[in-house]
Amino acid sequence: MTRPRLVGLSANIQRPSKTRTLVEAVLQEAGAHAPIDARTFDFVDAGSGLGAAWSRDELSLPARRVLEAIESADGLVVGSPVYKGSYTGLFKHLFDFVDPAALVGKPVAIVATGGGARHALVVEHSFRPLFGFFGALQVPVTVYASDGDFADGALTDAGVRQRVGQAGSQLAGLLAGRAAAGPVALAATR
Ligand SMILES: Cc1cc2nc3c(=O)[nH]c(=O)nc-3n(C[C@H](O)[C@H](O)[C@H](O)COP(=O)(O)O)c2cc1C
Repeated sequence: MTRPRLVGLSANIQRPSKTRTLVEAVLQEAGAHAPIDARTFDFVDAGSGLGAAWSRDELSLPARRVLEAIESADGLVVGSPVYKGSYTGLFKHLFDFVDPAALVGKPVAIVATGGGARHALVVEHSFRPLFGFFGALQVPVTVYASDGDFADGALTDAGVRQRVGQAGSQLAGLLAGRAAAGPVALAATR
């Protein structure tokens, strides 16, 4: 049996990145609960060709690869730094290219990072409506972390780490349930 493919997408534009660290932490937790193949992409991988594209056809090869990885994944961990109180413009720009049918019924875990705690509810108020549009199967626990939750690039806050564990475990559970439901039941959800 092939392992489910989980893709992490982090909207950071520089490395090291707190957002990427958080995305990878949730992927790692999911992997601790079930056998998965996980791969993370960030906007450094996508390159500047992402922002320059006005249509899917104009995407550079690196950006197209990221888009196709998102569309073909069995589940996602998506994350963005908070810019001006929301996910970044480039994060939305990428998802504007995603086929509206590609994420229907797919498990999606949501994470975000910000400079402080003021915008912690961005995960509920910005991300959830977007993935609601896509009809994704959203993981109940979201994860937000701010600068003070990291030390030397590592996630140190016990409360955030607990939420990472919950999100990863719930993501693994949703993936397993989706695999058990099979393609016929999934088709009925569209
Ligand atoms: C243009 C810009 C806008 C930002 N706006 C916010 C904001 O509104 N709220 C906030 O908490 N942090 C804000 N930040 C801080 C980043 O969200 C924070 O440093 C984030 O953790 C960076 O993630 P990264 O390490 O993955 O790049 C902003 C940073 C930049 C560069």
